[in-house]
Amino acid sequence: MKIDSLTGYGDFARDIQEIIISEDQIQMRVQELGAQISNDYRGKCPVLVGVLKGVLFYMADLLRVITIPSEVDFLAVSSYSSEARTQGVVRLVKDLEIPINHRHVLFVEDVIDTGLTLNYLLRSLREREPESLEVCVLFNKPGRRIIDIPLKYKGFDLPDRFVVGYGLDHQERYRNLPFIGLLKAEAFQNPHHLRECE
Ligand code: IMP
Ligand code: MG
Repeated sequence: MKIDSLTGYGDFARDIQEIIISEDQIQMRVQELGAQISNDYRGKCPVLVGVLKGVLFYMADLLRVITIPSEVDFLAVSSYSSEARTQGVVRLVKDLEIPINHRHVLFVEDVIDTGLTLNYLLRSLREREPESLEVCVLFNKPGRRIIDIPLKYKGFDLPDRFVVGYGLDHQERYRNLPFIGLLKAEAFQNPHHLRECE
């Protein structure tokens, strides 16, 4: 997508090199996934589970296009160390509030890269004996996958590039962009929005 289509995105335009997936494309795909989920889970009242904070925007949009009764809950994790992270081991800093045993659980994830974190979290959820456990990912980076995880619902395949927007951050910024974009090289060094908040 051409850079002049960033007009209307205000200050963000200064740091974004290119839009990879537009706001309209994201919203259309989320609508399709919501319809598919509503159809598949009719009569099952699924629990949608997400990991804070990246999944915030996707979860909010997905829930609003799901037309069957459902519940939502969140986990929050933090890394023990960079070594632990390379094995996908994370520390749960906020657990679910809804008991999920005998429930139909849909794990909603913004992006899957290596798959290590997701694999670890799915193992931990499986121990709680849900009736079913499936994954609904919006952005998938197949080129980076280390662990193969069956993905029942998938929005888009992404190239093996670092992207921001729609929940994905660089140093906690850019999550609120409504599209997926590539950052300019200089934005990695000196992000406009880091400067503004100092
Ligand atoms: P993995 O699948 O265990 O490698 O971890 C995926 C996590 O890395 C996601 O939950 C994101 O927090 C982060 N991540 C992966 N790719 C990107 C990206 O392109 N932009 C921003 N964060 C990313
Ligand atoms: Mg995430």
